[in-house]
Amino acid sequence: MKVTAVKSEVRAWVRETRSSGGVIALVPTMGYLHAGHLSLLEIARRHADHVALSIFVNPLQFGAGEDLERYPRDLQRDLDLASAAGTDLVFAPPVTEMYPTGEPWVSVIPERGADVLCGRSRPGHFRGVLTVVNKLFGIFAPDVAVFGEKDFQQLALIRRMVADLDIPVRIEAGPIVREADGLAMSSRNRYLSEDDRERALSLSRALGRCSELFRSGVHDAAPYRQQLQRAGGAGVSVEYAEVVDPDSLLSIDRVESGSVCLIAARVGGTRLIDNVVLGTPARL
Ligand code: PAF
Repeated sequence: MKVTAVKSEVRAWVRETRSSGGVIALVPTMGYLHAGHLSLLEIARRHADHVALSIFVNPLQFGAGEDLERYPRDLQRDLDLASAAGTDLVFAPPVTEMYPTGEPWVSVIPERGADVLCGRSRPGHFRGVLTVVNKLFGIFAPDVAVFGEKDFQQLALIRRMVADLDIPVRIEAGPIVREADGLAMSSRNRYLSEDDRERALSLSRALGRCSELFRSGVHDAAPYRQQLQRAGGAGVSVEYAEVVDPDSLLSIDRVESGSVCLIAARVGGTRLIDNVVLGTPARL
């Protein structure tokens, strides 16, 4: 496995790899890998001959007072996991390599879809995400890029960016990977105390109740929102509990197969998100 922190080395690897043929897949991450990331690497492998992983905690997508400084980092552990997963190249640049001139003059600002859900409480977050993903696409020119469905809004906006800006990359999505008790895997789970970890289960349980509602044929969106709100309680403060159309990300009144229930909540000091796409065999 090649490991580099330098863009020009990535470009040289891409040139060399392309000249010998084969499809290149990129899995962009912020590191501190867990089974969810490893499943994205597996998906990448199914779609490509060469799999690259980027590890970069992108300051542009963190707001003031968010967890940029304390975001978990462990490069050696990530490299061991990536290597065991058969990754061909890891790009783990410092901030100065990605943003050599500091704050960019030009960035990708979503016109729509970023003022709802997570975007409401995290203004500028998706500008940061889309800008760095666009830069990674510029550095790697991958044939395929793989993102997790856990960040549903992020995935939807990346798909729109690729379509709207005609970026020649195919986006593949990886289903949410959960702990045995249903908690969606996230690098931020490590912030949870033992009690918070237990309380956090109210999110996936609420989503499970939404799946049951759908299986029992309920199409009115109101009971879904009520079930999601029930995730709140002692130590769990719900930020949003929504049922949306998967493409527009706008709230809906009538639920169909493919509609998405999403929840964000603060559990202790930790902000968690989770979702379920209705009508899919989600393990909740
Ligand atoms: O989902 C993430 O880990 C990040 O938002 C991403 C896509 C790697 C961009 O920094």
